[in-house]
Amino acid sequence: MITREECAALDAVDPLAAFRKEFALPDGVVYLDGNSLGALPARTPGRVRQVVEEEWGRELIRSWNEAGWFEQPYRLGQRIAPLIGAEPDEVVVCDTTSVNLFKVLTAALRLRPGRRTVLGDGAAFPTDLYIAEGVTALFEGARSVLVTPEELDRHLDGDVAAVVLSHVDYRTGELLDMPGITARVQAAGALMIWDVCHSVGALPVELGAAGADFAVGCTYKYLNGGPGSPAFLHVARRHLAAGPQQPLSGWFGHARPFAFEPGYDPKDGIGRFLTSSPSLLGQAALESSLDVWERADLAAVRAKSLALTDLFITLVEGLDGIEVATPREHARRGSQVALRHADGYPVVQALIERGVIGDFRAPDLMRFGFTPLYLSHTDVWDAAQQLAEVLESGEWREERFSRRGEVT
Ligand SMILES: Cc1ncc(COP(=O)(O)O)c(C=O)c1O
Repeated sequence: MITREECAALDAVDPLAAFRKEFALPDGVVYLDGNSLGALPARTPGRVRQVVEEEWGRELIRSWNEAGWFEQPYRLGQRIAPLIGAEPDEVVVCDTTSVNLFKVLTAALRLRPGRRTVLGDGAAFPTDLYIAEGVTALFEGARSVLVTPEELDRHLDGDVAAVVLSHVDYRTGELLDMPGITARVQAAGALMIWDVCHSVGALPVELGAAGADFAVGCTYKYLNGGPGSPAFLHVARRHLAAGPQQPLSGWFGHARPFAFEPGYDPKDGIGRFLTSSPSLLGQAALESSLDVWERADLAAVRAKSLALTDLFITLVEGLDGIEVATPREHARRGSQVALRHADGYPVVQALIERGVIGDFRAPDLMRFGFTPLYLSHTDVWDAAQQLAEVLESGEWREERFSRRGEVT
């Protein structure tokens, strides 16, 4: 079994080690929940304060033009584009993942008139399924059908308008074959929409190379944009050229928002997917976290992520009552490790008390996210050691660890 000293030796030659100081993490914490809410970049409070005090407080309304507020959704989209393998004019930052899925899925159904089925993964993050239900309810005769990714091909008939899948499964951390699935969906005449919430910033995402039609994703997980930070959406250029129609036709998507015309005339390009005034404080926090991402080499992030998840799996498999739910094959693994344990909830709470922060998804999954920019091999070794001690001591059986909060 690998020792802590061997982990320290790996840390000493880690090409990403210098990024750790870019994050303001509390002492004594091993943070393994960056797949849910990323850590605070050290530069973010200063940037947000600057926007509040200078751009808003001092410059007031002038900042829409002078501080570039109006262009911010595009600028941030251009900076996210390389992280998802897209062109700069195919991405815009706005709203939330759910709202953006509503917009692109509706646009997709309109691009496939006569087709009425939307396929989704029944085990996907439920908001995607709820939005698919909501969208199909607006189209006469349309329906949303839930399948497993393995069953997908059998359901790809001439009625399927669009398929919505998560690139990485939020529970198990399983990574799907984006190019292969996209090709099969498109061969059946349907459009492919990827939810990249759990892959953006966790691994190189190649939407362009895969030929994806649309994508949506959030920025508060691996991108460290902060709680509730704005999401993004991606539309392939070939669809933008066709003038897709999204349903939330607000003034920010209008060709001339400050002409205040009574009729809606959508912008050309990705801007037609905007709806409202951007939430600039959230966007300021995201902007500062993208300053960090700009310097990160995604291939190095992926290599370290696989090394850290391999290490954790090796150290914890075989612990009492633990079953590894995450695929062992690198090609099928995102950047989290999910462990099944019949009493996963109190075990995670006992770990949190010891400073190792993971989370829990019912009924029995303990989730641990591995964020290469701010985690070291020794952190992983320490976390595995704490888990072993929690299980061995049985301290998780204490009644207080079973009390549940709203958010697990
Ligand atoms: C895969 C996935 N999609 C969508 C969402 C929800 O995003 P939002 O709250 O921005 O609508 C989440 C949230 O964790 C998620 O994990």
